This record gives sequence, structure tokens and C-alpha cells, in this order.
Amino acid sequence: MPVDPLCPAKRGIPSQVLTSGLEASQAVAREIADLIRLRESDGQTCVLGLATGSTPLDVYAELIRMHREEGLSFRNVVTFNLDEYYPMQPTAAQSYVRFMNEQLFDHIDIPAENVHIPDGTISLDDVAAYCDGYEQKIAARGGLDLQLLGIGRAGHIGFNEPGSTLDSRTRLVTLNDVTREDAASAYSGIENVPRQAITMGVGTIMQARRIILLAFGSSKASIVARATEGTVSESVPATFLHHHSNVEFWLDETSAAQLSLS
Ligand code: PGA
Repeated sequence: MPVDPLCPAKRGIPSQVLTSGLEASQAVAREIADLIRLRESDGQTCVLGLATGSTPLDVYAELIRMHREEGLSFRNVVTFNLDEYYPMQPTAAQSYVRFMNEQLFDHIDIPAENVHIPDGTISLDDVAAYCDGYEQKIAARGGLDLQLLGIGRAGHIGFNEPGSTLDSRTRLVTLNDVTREDAASAYSGIENVPRQAITMGVGTIMQARRIILLAFGSSKASIVARATEGTVSESVPATFLHHHSNVEFWLDETSAAQLSLS
């Protein structure tokens, strides 16, 4: 089993440090492509958990390049995105539906019915049942083969903000101030950033068979060090990844600058 909450936390999470984010992103895209091809050769679907934000952009660009130039097909790929702001219309400029279409899905051959992104238009009355359904869809596809993650400056994974528990599942959450500040420029001011979001839970993420967390740039150096070398705690949800048996952080030299463990 990739996750066992009783599995003792490891001292440090394995990290790959490359000279640039681009180099790391291309290596991660190659791993994803290899997994897609392996699954296809076995006649199976490949279930990917995907992330938004600026960090995974070069991974998606490289996957598109491999689709165009190397014949990488996504016809056997099923995707589940981590999160979406709430409320959010899919056509809005800040929508993660729009982001994923523009950055990946519009450029590859993934069947539309294989794409899943939390729906920011669901009514408040229906959101809990909707989130349960999202979990059931992941389970019905056999679980996530690989989950791609970024990390927020306060240590969130997905929108699992500080205080999220190890067993949390897909749900409606309240965004914290650091997250809303970091989104402010995309919304022309923090007052326009939604206060809530739908996110896969920490427990949902932890059930992925493999997890790759990407973090690039000096603004992530402090949280990367806390997440990989600090004590496991709800106050930094990314530290829960210490309990996963197949997780890696892929970093550039600047985001790795405060790591002390070799
Ligand atoms: P970023 O966001 O990729 O835009 O830095 C990462 C995150 O908040 O998880």
C-alpha cells in the first residue's frame, strides 16, 4: 500500500534537485508519458491527478510537445483535477476549467468524458453530495496512479489549507489569507478572490500510488524546507506526505536552497 497512516514519518522526503524548473518539468513529463504508454500497452487506463497554478505549466507544455512530435496519445488517460475556486463559472478567466483547457486539454487527444475538474457552479445545498460523487468517480477508475502537486507558501496541497486533517476528503473549504494574497493579482485585488474552494482532501491525495510535488523559485524555499524536513503537522498539510511511501519533491536550485538534509 502506498499510504499507511501508521507508517512512521520518514526523516525528509526524497527530493530531486535540478538546475532549472524547466529541466525538472521535462523530466516529470517524461515520467508521466512513460506511465501513460505502460498503461496503454497493458490495455489499461492511466489515472492522473492534475494540478493548476504556475508551477505545472512547463510539464503541460512538454506533454503537448510529446503529443505533437512524438505521438504520445492521451486516449487512455483519465484525469481528476485537485481543486476549483467556489463559486466559479467555468468560462471565467480565473477558472481552473478554463486553465486546464487552455494549458493542456485543448491541445491533446484526451476524450472529454475522461476529464474531471471540481464544479464551481454546484449549489451550496448539493456540494457535499457532489464532493462524495467526486471521490466515488476516482475510486471507480481504480484510484489515482500519479498525483501531481504544487505547494502553497503556507504549505497547502490542493486547497488543503493549514488545519486540514490527514483523513480529509473532497470538500468545500475556506481559503486562507496567504492563498488569497497569492491569487490577488489574477483577480485584480484580494477583495475579488473567492473565499472558498472545492478541493480533493489530504486523504484523497494520499491514496495516489505515486505523488510528485513540484516547487520552483525562491519564494518556495522556506515552505519546501519546512514540508520536507519539518515535523508532521496539520499546520503544514504538505508534511503529511512524509507518511507516503512513493512521494518525491522535484525542485530547482532556488526552491531547494534551504534544505539541510542531503
Ligand atoms: P503556484 O501555486 O504553482 O501558482 O505557485 C501552487 C499552489 O498553490 O499549490
